Amino acid sequence: MPLRSKITGTGSYVPGTVLTNFDLEKKVDTSDEWITERTGIKERRIVKGTEATSDLCLEAAKNALQAADIKPSEIDLIIVTTMSGDMPMPSTASLLQKKLGAKNAAAFDLNAACSGFLYGLSVADNFIKGGTFKKVLLVGAEVMSRFLDWKDRSTCVLFGDGAGAVVLEAAKGKRGILSTHLYSDGSQWDFICLPGGGSLNPPSSKTIKERMHFVKMKGNETFKVAVRTLEKLVIDTLKQNRVKSSELAMLVPHQANLRIIKATAERLGLPMSRVAVNLDRYGNTSSASIPIALDEVVREGRVKKDDYVLLEAFGAGLTWASALIRW
Ligand code: UT7
Repeated sequence: MPLRSKITGTGSYVPGTVLTNFDLEKKVDTSDEWITERTGIKERRIVKGTEATSDLCLEAAKNALQAADIKPSEIDLIIVTTMSGDMPMPSTASLLQKKLGAKNAAAFDLNAACSGFLYGLSVADNFIKGGTFKKVLLVGAEVMSRFLDWKDRSTCVLFGDGAGAVVLEAAKGKRGILSTHLYSDGSQWDFICLPGGGSLNPPSSKTIKERMHFVKMKGNETFKVAVRTLEKLVIDTLKQNRVKSSELAMLVPHQANLRIIKATAERLGLPMSRVAVNLDRYGNTSSASIPIALDEVVREGRVKKDDYVLLEAFGAGLTWASALIRW
């Protein structure tokens, strides 16, 4: 029997403040009709006051640990996937370790933008299969709202805040993570980026004046590459595992745009009842979108023992990734 990693618990958390498309109509030149038609988003959640990424991580992690029935002290490794951590240093994973009291864990952050959670899943899976760690807490968490230009209608309507978490444990048998697939094309780094605040453009009055500390996106160019890339990605992932799309119980896609999600589902011949969708309520929560959606379908009982579940994402880098799981 091969050693695999199995998801033994899922959890998620979104902040309480709701920002609707109608609220945004009052801030920028946009409309509920445009946002709904072009993206599928109706509202998103936004942090308040001093709430930061590690706070969202903590709530999602507590839910996942409870579902897996393990104590924080049993965790060997914490990975937080984020592009919007509390601060550049230390890692948000270290801050989460303190808040959770997971004193026996190693901790680090991983940034692969919207594909981050699946990159993290692959890293965790390989640590477990290689025998380095037995119990890994993986959290995808973002506070996008603090990195959005609330004067730029082409980006500020798209994103939201939230966190999702999974506990992965070593297990023998045919159930668990079957494969992960990671890709990147850095030549198109400028399709989605946040140019200010790093070593290239350190914070200055110029970076603030030129609004470089906010997410920039070439939306339409990204859209076209995303549709093409994801269609090939999901077909290749199933082929490599000799699984037919008719055998898939659930597709859990990154939640960037309902039109992209529908195109991928159509390519697979999957009815939308077998696709996890929550961007209408949360918008694009970047690396948090897949674990939040996964937690929802698990808790709704839409994923059962032995089911095939396909996860896929596309985002800045450019990066894209997938994972096939036998639940
Ligand atoms: O999560 C990481 C990966 N991200 C993605 O995969 C996102 C991919 N891209 C998209 O989802 C879509 O491209 C968007 C939703 C971002 C944009 O939709 P689009 O159909 O590609 O629209 P567009 O950018 O081509 O803009 C069409 C029009 C433009 O006006 P003109 O030039 O035709 O007069 C924009 O100025 O819509 C205008 N526009 C808006 N109008 C009202 C752009 N944003 C808005 C807005 N409200 N918020």
